[in-house]
Amino acid sequence: MKEMNPVAPHRPLTEYYADEAGRHRWLRRVFDTTAVDYDRVESLMAFGSGPWYRRQALQRAGLTHGMQVLDVGTGTGLTAIEAARLSGSGGNVTGVEPSIGMLAHAHLPDGMRVIEGYAEALPVADQSCDFVSMGYALRHVPDLRAVFGEFYRVLRPGGRACVLEITRPAGAYAARCLRIYMRHLVPILARIVGRSRDMPQLMRYYWDSIEACVPPQQVIEELRAAGFTQVTRHVVLGIFSEYVAIKGEA
Ligand SMILES: C[S@@+](CC[C@H](N)C(=O)[O-])C[C@H]1O[C@@H](n2cnc3c(N)ncnc32)[C@H](O)[C@@H]1O
Repeated sequence: MKEMNPVAPHRPLTEYYADEAGRHRWLRRVFDTTAVDYDRVESLMAFGSGPWYRRQALQRAGLTHGMQVLDVGTGTGLTAIEAARLSGSGGNVTGVEPSIGMLAHAHLPDGMRVIEGYAEALPVADQSCDFVSMGYALRHVPDLRAVFGEFYRVLRPGGRACVLEITRPAGAYAARCLRIYMRHLVPILARIVGRSRDMPQLMRYYWDSIEACVPPQQVIEELRAAGFTQVTRHVVLGIFSEYVAIKGEA
């Protein structure tokens, strides 16, 4: 079989790490150390990306009652909680998350199962879920191809993947305003309200990885290349991208 070259979601950000191994270690460390502040800082800079928005986005993507959901990059559980509400039970949701720190500070719905693992090598069986959700974790994976291939593998025919991500606004003025807010203001707020010394740096990285991210069209193309038949991107307020991909019936 032909080996596929990996497709990183963004170029290396060498201000933070030297190479791919360093990126992996750096991310693991900062998510562990900043987990204590994650929910507080997230709701502060939310722009509406809080529980209400996550629920609306999952609903728009077709998450309905009774679906078996795999939430990838669960973190403290902000997307998983909404998935559990829509599917009707925490018992319908399984989370996958590499950071022990994030899991230690998670507020997960009753009955939800969590597995330590990575999006690029999902520790679940083929065709075992109806819906894959990923909230704001796509910029942190090493390879879009591997991740979307995994989403396709674990979904049943007719299943859906929903990737929520922040994308750079199309207009130069809006991009400049968002940059000032996220790269400069949010790290100051994070220093004031956060307990972790790494939080301001993670917030700067947050923006830098958004700015360096591959264009949305490439995300769509990689989802199609993984085998998904219907792929759409819905944009809210010019920055919240909701990628929805459906696996065709066999
Ligand atoms: C910004 S948080 C998002 C958490 C949550 N999904 C939400 O909606 O708030 C990103 C999460 O992705 C996780 N992550 C980082 N690299 C990952 C990978 N390769 N596979 C899966 N999750 C990853 C991080 O540990 C972190 O918990």
